[in-house]
Amino acid sequence: MATKLQASKGTHDVLPDQAPERLALERIARRILEGAGYERIETPAFEVTELFSRGVGGSTDIVQKEMFTFEDEGGRSLTLRPEGTAPIVRSYLEHGMHKLPQPVKLWYWESFFRAEKPQAGRYRQFWQVGAEAIGAAGPAVDAELITLLHAILSEVGTGSLKLRLGSLGTPETRAAYRERLVAYLRTHEDRLSAEVVGRIDLNPLRAFDADDPGTREVMANAPLLLDELAPDDAEHFAAVRARLDAAGIDYVIDPTLVRGLDYYTRTLFEFETDALSSALGGGGRYDGLAEQLGGPATPGIGWAAGVERILLAAEPAPHRVAVCDLYVAGEGVTAFALASEGRRAGLSVQQELAGRSTKGALKQAARLKATAVAVVDDAAGTIHLKDTETGEQTVVPDTTAVIARALKGRHPG
Ligand code: HAM
Repeated sequence: MATKLQASKGTHDVLPDQAPERLALERIARRILEGAGYERIETPAFEVTELFSRGVGGSTDIVQKEMFTFEDEGGRSLTLRPEGTAPIVRSYLEHGMHKLPQPVKLWYWESFFRAEKPQAGRYRQFWQVGAEAIGAAGPAVDAELITLLHAILSEVGTGSLKLRLGSLGTPETRAAYRERLVAYLRTHEDRLSAEVVGRIDLNPLRAFDADDPGTREVMANAPLLLDELAPDDAEHFAAVRARLDAAGIDYVIDPTLVRGLDYYTRTLFEFETDALSSALGGGGRYDGLAEQLGGPATPGIGWAAGVERILLAAEPAPHRVAVCDLYVAGEGVTAFALASEGRRAGLSVQQELAGRSTKGALKQAARLKATAVAVVDDAAGTIHLKDTETGEQTVVPDTTAVIARALKGRHPG
């Protein structure tokens, strides 16, 4: 026998019993985001590699270690998208969306690919629901996006939520701060972990993320970027906070919040829950990203949240059986015609497909909670209609009569 094949490491099937809760989440996200004027966008599953090395940043783990990269027949380097923001800004620039009324507000529900070590809530192909507002710099956009993600997570019910909020200022402030931080880390090199020391020049901010006790001790007294923000960045951050306060959204200010993408400027945030050890979602401003991708200076902000992580944290939804208005017991041509005509008339129809006897078909119809069952005997040229509630069985003259009766008895909605 041939070896039984399995799904590739870190990928997973979405089985029918998991589909309803994903659909419910998608509907909630769609209602909340489209209600606020965000429009759905889809971008390709792969892009030229340079989009991510320039957009996400060459020093990030994502670009250094986690991209699925391959060459096409012309030797061009392509990459399965590890995230959605750089592709959407690319699309905004490519399609001249700056000519539309600003900000352009977009949302997405797509799969992404990262060659990460798989574990609970961390996969190599995973789905994100995300939103981006491109073309507006004011603090109200930041607060609006945070509030929308908060609304989605609250409606789904993902345990007790914690919003961590920070600000990175401008690239200039960050560069000056970075120098100070590198100098600080160098003076304490002997107490830092080897990994942190190895990354001092590449990504010193990641030292705040380290778990090892020596590094944590050193970082407790490290200079903080939030204390060094330029006045207008500090003002922007205060204005975002004032709007979140006005909306009644709780948050904690986290001066050491680090996210694994280089494009962030100013506002930065992440949602956590007590139901899960990893973040549900996060995002921030990326006012320099459009320019990095060869476009004019365009402010932008957005977030993405992991679909699987949200569902892991959520209470499982009760499994709902699809409505069945009519079960057609019979596999001949009349039965087939009845099923097709019934669907055309707007009924939810399922037909016997497994060669069950009439008794077996009636059992299957009961399992599906069908409202009506038509027993079609092609050889005898008869159709019996059974009302599953009353058990009453009547002879009906033709398929039209079956459909008329089934339409009368169908489930509302
Ligand atoms: P991110 O923090 O890299 O941000 O990913 C957002 C969310 O996607 C995470 O919080 C997590 O829930 C989910 N996620 C990430 N990696 C995995 C994985 N390997 N398995 C399962 N879930 C995962 C971004 O991707 C940015 N593009 C967000 C953004 C939008 N910033 C501005 N606009």
